[in-house]
Amino acid sequence: MDFSQSNLSLGFHTHSSPPNPHAIESACAPIADDSISFQIVSNLRDPSHSLRSIPLQLLEPENSHNTTASATATDPIEDDVERPEEEQFSILGYPMCLKRRRDCESSLSSSSSCFNPPKRISIELEARRAVVRSWANQPLSVADPDVHEIMEKEKVRQFRGIELIASENFVCRAVMEALGSHLTNKYSEGMPGARYYGGNQYIDQIETLCWERALAAFHLDPENWGVNVQPYSCTSANFAVYTGLLLHKDRIMGLDSPSGGHLSHGYYTPSGKKVSGASIFFESFPYKVNPITGYIDYDKLEERALDYRPKILICGGSSYPREWDYARFRQIADKCGAVLMCDMAHISGLVAAKECLSPFDYCDIVTSTTHKSLRGPRGGIIFYRKGKRLRKRMSLCQGEENDHFDFEDRINFAVFPSLQGGPHNNHIAALAIALKQVATPEYKAYMQQVKKNAQTLASALLRRKCRLVTGGTDNHLLLWDLRTLCLTGKNFEKVCEICQITLNKSAIFGDNGAISPGGVRIGTPAMTSRGCLEGDFETIADFLLRAAQIASIVQKEHGKLQKDFLKGLQNNKDIVELRNRVENFATQFAMPALDC
Ligand SMILES: Cc1ncc(COP(=O)(O)O)c(C=O)c1O
Repeated sequence: MDFSQSNLSLGFHTHSSPPNPHAIESACAPIADDSISFQIVSNLRDPSHSLRSIPLQLLEPENSHNTTASATATDPIEDDVERPEEEQFSILGYPMCLKRRRDCESSLSSSSSCFNPPKRISIELEARRAVVRSWANQPLSVADPDVHEIMEKEKVRQFRGIELIASENFVCRAVMEALGSHLTNKYSEGMPGARYYGGNQYIDQIETLCWERALAAFHLDPENWGVNVQPYSCTSANFAVYTGLLLHKDRIMGLDSPSGGHLSHGYYTPSGKKVSGASIFFESFPYKVNPITGYIDYDKLEERALDYRPKILICGGSSYPREWDYARFRQIADKCGAVLMCDMAHISGLVAAKECLSPFDYCDIVTSTTHKSLRGPRGGIIFYRKGKRLRKRMSLCQGEENDHFDFEDRINFAVFPSLQGGPHNNHIAALAIALKQVATPEYKAYMQQVKKNAQTLASALLRRKCRLVTGGTDNHLLLWDLRTLCLTGKNFEKVCEICQITLNKSAIFGDNGAISPGGVRIGTPAMTSRGCLEGDFETIADFLLRAAQIASIVQKEHGKLQKDFLKGLQNNKDIVELRNRVENFATQFAMPALDC
């Protein structure tokens, strides 16, 4: 029967237990006894006349293949023998099925038993529960086969390929579980203990735990450092720092993008187009690497900084394969009165594992992504100094001397309410999980292996006379200058992609940057997470060199222009052969969290 069309209405009888003090537990516990009873009241009858309750048992919602079957039962008080055991109807368009319980066990008198009374709920409530389950509890493959199918293909792509994008990694199952959890349901604007909405007692616990773990993972004393784990990304984290500390049009200075810096440090193009919010709302002026050595030119940086007088000097970048001289940055920042900020997005895993110098020894503010070498969920994080300054200095905005750091309130206020809304609590929980792992000896071993693998790859390429920017690497990435092979980063990236190797084109200082980057950036964190060791990276070096050979041949035959170049990749036997080798190699390795 379809309730929307019937002239019958249901009078539901509730036999529910008294209010349960452990409401959450009971809500989650399976219902021990499904029995329910209801009576049908016809509009045509005297509504005051109460009909006999018919005990019924509610089954799961009908599958869609049953939806055409129409219910035949009309009056439940008719002869029991004639009525089918199951009745079908729909509520709010959802097909339902009711099954009658058998006589004695269905008797309402059973509820009089003091021991183990059957839990009874009204049919109406149970029907509503079933409706909710039917839209809410379907697995993705049933709820949305289209998205599911694409996601499955992406899973296979990740499994079959060699992932060398330096900023990518594979998270563990626990992180994924937190990401796909009920924590996404909760609004919690504000900070632990000071939220705009109620019901945040557990969210507060999660965020506080995440703070504690973040500080512990980076070996920081909570007396001297605070942390904000709410930024949705590192770009937002950086912008929150500028927003909190600067006035509109104040000056910042970071590594130029073609030198390996990140857009969010204030990039604008050579023609002056302001690309990032950092350059649109603030004034920026970059420093660069030495075009011959590829290392940061610290003397030039000092000269420029003293002329430009930025209020924030930024170290850290996206494709810089060498150590950062934080002590020198500190000196320069002090000379020009700037706050020193490090964006350690790429190397935060190495910093936590003490496998590189620590920016915390010298910087006032440190930001990071949480999903690169740190191997957590996508997001951003901001650490700021707090407490007493070692020496008095001018406060950025008030122009007065201040002997205490005043970053905490400014940064927290900038994150929320200035720039963001409710924190993504599922991400914060996932970050807490990742940070717990970061503090383990196993994670340190992982980071050591990431470095060894990067060095192995660098040596393997150098042995074959390839040119690497700075001649090698101190961290997890290397920059391969393809100009010596007369290849463009774009064409090489394409060949690799078709062969199931993912890496990204990258500007090499001195090339014409964004238009035709002359190199590629290659990183080892992701494949190290899949268990690759030095020997495996020797094999990966062979694959990369073979891809470069293929790219050279195709370029000779078809030309450099990508349109023509792509034609040469179609039905190319060399590509098919390399792709098979890559897939055979990659599928030997485990895939974190994906049961492969
Ligand atoms: C140094 C640096 N900062 C910031 C970002 C931006 O991170 P997100 O994508 O989380 O905004 C990146 C990303 O590649 C980066 O390399």
